[in-house]
Amino acid sequence: MLRSTILAAARSGGCRKVVENVPVTRAIVDRFVAGDRLDEAVAVTDELIASGRSISLDHLGEDTTDAEQAAATVRAYRELLGELKRTGLAAHAEVSVKLSAVGQFLPRDGERTALENARLICEAAADAGTTVTLDMEDHTTTDSTLGIARRLREDFPWLGVVLQAYLHRTEADCREFSGPGSRVRLCKGAYQEPSSVAFQSRAEVDRAYVRCLKVLMAGEGYPMVASHDPRLIRIAGQLAEWNGRKPDSFEYQMLYGIRPEEQERLVEAGGTMRVYLPYGSQWYGYFMRRLAERPANLTFFLRALASRG
Ligand code: FDA
Repeated sequence: MLRSTILAAARSGGCRKVVENVPVTRAIVDRFVAGDRLDEAVAVTDELIASGRSISLDHLGEDTTDAEQAAATVRAYRELLGELKRTGLAAHAEVSVKLSAVGQFLPRDGERTALENARLICEAAADAGTTVTLDMEDHTTTDSTLGIARRLREDFPWLGVVLQAYLHRTEADCREFSGPGSRVRLCKGAYQEPSSVAFQSRAEVDRAYVRCLKVLMAGEGYPMVASHDPRLIRIAGQLAEWNGRKPDSFEYQMLYGIRPEEQERLVEAGGTMRVYLPYGSQWYGYFMRRLAERPANLTFFLRALASRG
């Protein structure tokens, strides 16, 4: 109930104005977001890479219905990739892209625009010597996003996709995307979804995650285990071992600011650990999804609001 309310607020313009304009919000946002500017994101990337972690950078923004805004996002990614190349960070840093930020929801030719824009980002990534992963948004976009991924993978076979374990369809999608060279980031799923398409209880989602993980670990691709859940991380390690996978044939992924000690532990244990690192001024939707995931984050936020001034 609480989770659905926060996730509904994540898409409300009115709530956005209120949350963005409360000064105390910024300090809490900073826990999850590297900063507004490119140089801040690059500095945090540099620091995390020095600690043995790899990175996937996300230029924040989503759900645009404005072609110019979509083009500006593409320019921001190309600038970012140029900077990763120039600083030598591209060897350990890739980018994550939301298709709704590069045109998928434009009223005319949205899907074609998103494909062309994502292609421009993939070209810049190839030039920098790194990769791109397409984030996954709510279930109404899954077919379109996977369709665009299939097209892009013809030219950029290293393109990664995100699959969400909470969707009923995902085990089958894992089978399709577990072939040679395929990079799949498996996460639980962060959006409010109806029971017609998604498992609703934590236990069901966790069981679905394990079923999907079994398919990916037994497959020929490169599984990316995106979870902070200690039990799932343990199971992923066991499945990798049972399938004879070496530590460089799969990776763990976590969000910036969440369970950093566990991130360090996995690096020390010899695993590949990639941190998803968002930056930019459009942090509202991302921030609200992080609040929805954990009641303690929300309580902390509300306490800070109540004590301001
Ligand atoms: P779960 O929510 O059960 O959390 C397990 C434990 O992790 C908690 O008990 C707590 O200790 C810690 N934790 C989790 N969330 C926390 C938070 N917000 N604050 C503090 N602690 C927290 N989703 C999506 O729909 N599309 C996408 O493209 C992506 N991309 C993505 C990339 C990466 C690298 C990650 C790690 C996650 C995503 N997600 C995502 C988000 C994902 O779907 C999911 O909502 C969150 O990862 C939370 O699920 P967990 O698997 O961590 O388990």
